[in-house]
Parts: sequence; structure tokens; C-alpha cells
Amino acid sequence: MPVSVQYDSVWTGATLVTLQEGRYSAIPDGAIAVRDGRIAWLGPRQALGPHDAREYQDVGGGIITPGLIDCHTHLVFGGDRSREFEQRLSGVSYSEIAAAGGGILSTVRATRDADEDHLLAAAEQRLALLMAEGVTCIEIKSGYGLTLDSEMKMLRVARRLAERHPIDIKTSFLAAHALPPEYHGRADDYITLICEEWLPAVAAAGLADAVDGFCEHLAFSPAQITRVFEAATRLGLPLKLHAEQLSSLGGSTLAARFGALSADHLEYATADDARAMAAAGTVAVLLPGACYLLRESQMPPVAHFRQQGVKMALASDSNPGTSPACSLRLMLNMGCTLFHLTPEEALAGVTLHAAHALGVAPEQGSLAVGKWANFVHWPVAAPAELAYWLGGQLPCTVIYRGRRR
Ligand code: NIG
Ligand code: FE
Repeated sequence: MPVSVQYDSVWTGATLVTLQEGRYSAIPDGAIAVRDGRIAWLGPRQALGPHDAREYQDVGGGIITPGLIDCHTHLVFGGDRSREFEQRLSGVSYSEIAAAGGGILSTVRATRDADEDHLLAAAEQRLALLMAEGVTCIEIKSGYGLTLDSEMKMLRVARRLAERHPIDIKTSFLAAHALPPEYHGRADDYITLICEEWLPAVAAAGLADAVDGFCEHLAFSPAQITRVFEAATRLGLPLKLHAEQLSSLGGSTLAARFGALSADHLEYATADDARAMAAAGTVAVLLPGACYLLRESQMPPVAHFRQQGVKMALASDSNPGTSPACSLRLMLNMGCTLFHLTPEEALAGVTLHAAHALGVAPEQGSLAVGKWANFVHWPVAAPAELAYWLGGQLPCTVIYRGRRR
């Protein structure tokens, strides 16, 4: 008599789009067996051996994908920048608005002024929209406080969101996002403060899972980012970088040289940057929402990334300035239409490759034995439909750690 295996639940009735190896790797008429919140077995339903389960769920058709991962957001912030949206539509550029004290600094003022509960409530509204369309893991950056207290306030809000909602949240400390007005003309002093005082304090408080920066002519130079990366590396913190968004400064090559998890934006990245990222395993996080909203004409060098085997992720970049996006699924569509990704690449970009960009691929990002049972049932016939339907809310059922959310 074969021994019967015990599971908590068994899910059947759909094609499993596993995303193993970053491909659809579909299993028609599949089954997923869950134990202790993790995938204990998956494969064709016919191959599921003798077992007992407390719960059986036949989803009645459609596909099951891994839970979606939004690996680059600025979800916690005060205020909004709809007025700047109007200005940009009338011809004022993002850089001009920033130079006049608006842009990131206007959100800094609103974020400093907001108390923690207010920031939490505002972020919760945006988080709910992302979660409703299948997001089970999200990254949230600081970077709109630019004082130690207000940067920590943002990171605490991100941690509280994780305590209050069934979703995994990774934080990134982004004090090197913009020069705070108090340090006008003294950018190197601000970087010294980040390196010598803020980073150790944030690390000691356990508030940062990674360190990020903005390498750009209107933010920080490669030399300044280098100092931040050296200090973060001494503390053992993983790295990420906003790079090559508006111009080519070699930030992505710099990120690769430090073994960063990801370099993000990358419209102005070069073939050399792609080679450096490939050699280091640094993920290219593409952010079509910001590209679209800034009406950028330069597109990220997807062909080079493909050729070099750089993993490409897609994220919402949800933020009040360049990408007030509350839909990751819309980014699938924009990744295909704007950046010419295939729907399969786009889906890998919000699952397995996004997991790599956060350093969580051993735990999530694909349907595989041992990973968290974070998955989404979509009543659609083909995975390309996730990228195809434009706007609106596709119905879906989200399972987080084995439980219906
Ligand atoms: O990812 N590039 C810098 N940071 C954000 C924009 C921040 C803002 O404009 O508020 C981004 O696009
Ligand atoms: Fe960003």
C-alpha cells in the first residue's frame, strides 16, 4: 500500500503557468498541493499520488500564475503632484520643475508634514489596488523624507503595512534620492551624513532590506553613489540604483560593479552597461509608467539585455511624480507596447525576475516546490491575456501562503 501524503490543500482545475526558468513552462490540467504555506508538490493532476488534504479547490478552468511582485515602488508619500502633471502637459520639463524646487522636493515637504498614521492610510489605499490584482510581494522605498527622522518614518510605515496586510514587503533606504534644501550646495556633506550616521542607524533599527540611490545629473553623481554603496556594503546591505533614467552616467555599470541586485529605469543604458550587468547578475528593472508619463522618447536597450542574458523585471514605480500607477498589470501591457517585451517576458518581469531584483527568488517568483504558496487564479484562456487587457480590473483569486486572501 503506497503511503498517503498529508497536505493542507490541493488546488486543481487550471493550467499552471509556473514561470520556471522565466518561461511560461505551462502544465495543463495541473495540481498544486500546499503544506504549511508552501508548495509541497505540483505537476499534472494525473500524477498526484495518494494523499489526504483538508481542503480541495477545483478552480474550474483558467490559469494559475505565481503571485505578482512589484519590485520598485515609492508607495509611501504625502500629497500628490497633479499640478505638476498639468505643468508638464503644458510643456515644462521634469528637470525644469525639479530645478525650480518642485518635483521630488515638493513631495518631500508634504511627506515631512504628514504624520505616520496619515501616511499609512494613504499608502493603504494604493496598496489595496495593487493587491486586488494579484500582487503578493512589493518593494517600498523611503526617499521623500531626507531627514533621518522622516526617512525612518517612511520605513516604519512600510513595516506597519506588512504587519497589517497579507503581503510581503521589502524596504529600500533611498536617502540619496534628492538633495534636501538644508544641504543646498553641500551635496558631499549630505552624502557623508548618509554614510556615517543615517545608514548605520537605519541598519541598526532593522528598517532597510536594501539601499537605493538616484544617480542622475539632477540628483547624485557616480562618485557620490559610490560612497553610499561602499558604506552600505560595509553594513552588509544589498544595493539597488535608479540609473540612466534621464541621461547616461554609467550608474548601471557602477551598480553592477558593486554586485547590486538591480539597476532601474535604464532608458539611457548602453550595450556596455548591459554587458556589465550580465556579468554581475544585476537585474534590469524597467519602469514603463515613468517612461510614459515623462513622454520619454529614448527606450531601454531591451535587445542588448536580451542578447546579454540580463534578467528584465517590470515594476510600477508607483510614485506621485513620474508614475502615479496603481496597477502592475497595466505595466505588463506598457512593457509590451512601449518596450517591445513579449507577454512572456513581461510576466517573468513581474514574477521570477522581480523576485531576483529583490533577492527573494529562493522563496517566491515561480511555482516551484518549497517556495511560498503565493499564487493567483485568473479565469482567462491564455497567459498573454494578462498583458493584453488594457486597464480595468481582471477578476482573480489570490492565494497568499496557502490561504485565499
Ligand atoms: O523612480 N527617479 C527618481 N525617482 C522617482 C521619481 C520620484 C518623483 O518624481 O517623485 C522615479 O521615477
Ligand atoms: Fe523610482
